[in-house]
Amino acid sequence: MQTSKLITLDEFTIMETRKFPQATGELSSLLRDIGLAGKLVNKQVRRAGLVDILGEYGATNVQGESQMKLDIFANEALINILKYSTDCAGIASEENDEYLAFDDTFSANSKYVVLFDPLDGSSNIDVNASIGTIFSIYRRVSELGKPCTIEDFTQPGNRQMAAGYIIYGSSTMFVYATRLGVNGFTLEPSIGEFCLSHANMKCPETGKYYSLNQGNTCKYSEGMNAYLDYCMENKKEENRPYGLRYIGSMVADMHRTLIKGGIFIYPGDKSNVNGKLRLMYECNPMAFILEAAGGVASWGGGNIMDINPTELHQRTPIFIGSKNMVNKALEFAK
Ligand code: AHG
Ligand code: MN
Ligand code: MN
Repeated sequence: MQTSKLITLDEFTIMETRKFPQATGELSSLLRDIGLAGKLVNKQVRRAGLVDILGEYGATNVQGESQMKLDIFANEALINILKYSTDCAGIASEENDEYLAFDDTFSANSKYVVLFDPLDGSSNIDVNASIGTIFSIYRRVSELGKPCTIEDFTQPGNRQMAAGYIIYGSSTMFVYATRLGVNGFTLEPSIGEFCLSHANMKCPETGKYYSLNQGNTCKYSEGMNAYLDYCMENKKEENRPYGLRYIGSMVADMHRTLIKGGIFIYPGDKSNVNGKLRLMYECNPMAFILEAAGGVASWGGGNIMDINPTELHQRTPIFIGSKNMVNKALEFAK
């Protein structure tokens, strides 16, 4: 019997690497390690309710948010795997106060650092809605052979080498971007491999959905309120009124936006001028992915990836998605 050829994540990244004669294969092996952590998290997610993984852990993180058991599990899975990987010099995580430099000879000689939101969409864990893991990979700027430093972790998003996410949804997918483009791999549970299912993903130039926490309208600026009126206006030939879709897991809202087009917004408001989402763990990686797919990501006054980070856990407003829709929203928000 003939089997159709499956391309695994590993095979794909190695094929991509071969396009660059000077590449050493370290990025491929890093992506494999992140995929492995994703499979461990996936195993827990798929058994949630049967094993003791739902609910709060009983501590708060550096941003004052209460941590869920799955936040901790995912964070530890990523840290443990990357620590023993030969290709990662250190990590920074939404759940850790400080970055972590892996202090062994292999790691000190590694050229990459990884930043991640180990579990995105914590509030959706207990209700069986889609959640995810978001990651961002930079080439370090500090001296090889020594432990990595804070400068390696606070580079602007436009220096990312790769970024991606794993979505634990109705299926589990690994989506990652390099400057060559964006590709999606679906986990085939029977063989435990991520297999290429969405080659060369492109974000449509326009879409039918807007996505934001509309319950916060009273805190939004006049410009934002005018934009919401625009989204709800009846203009059939322009797809309006747009449908409102908001899951409350950035990964899930962005996955839809990438595939179907649309706009996702987490604006600054009167009480939080920089909004809620984190530049290094959420906004930069999503901006890199969406831009590699032809979309746009702005903080309202410029590109997300041009922001020069001043601290690891800083937040930024974000307008991201289909090119035409983001540009229109920015006309209002300015
Ligand atoms: P996290 O679970 O990593 O803390 O992230 C939650 C984020 C993001 O996933 C989502 O887009 C946003 O919080 C939702 O916030 P609101 O509940 O304020 O709408
Ligand atoms: Mn998050
Ligand atoms: Mn998180």
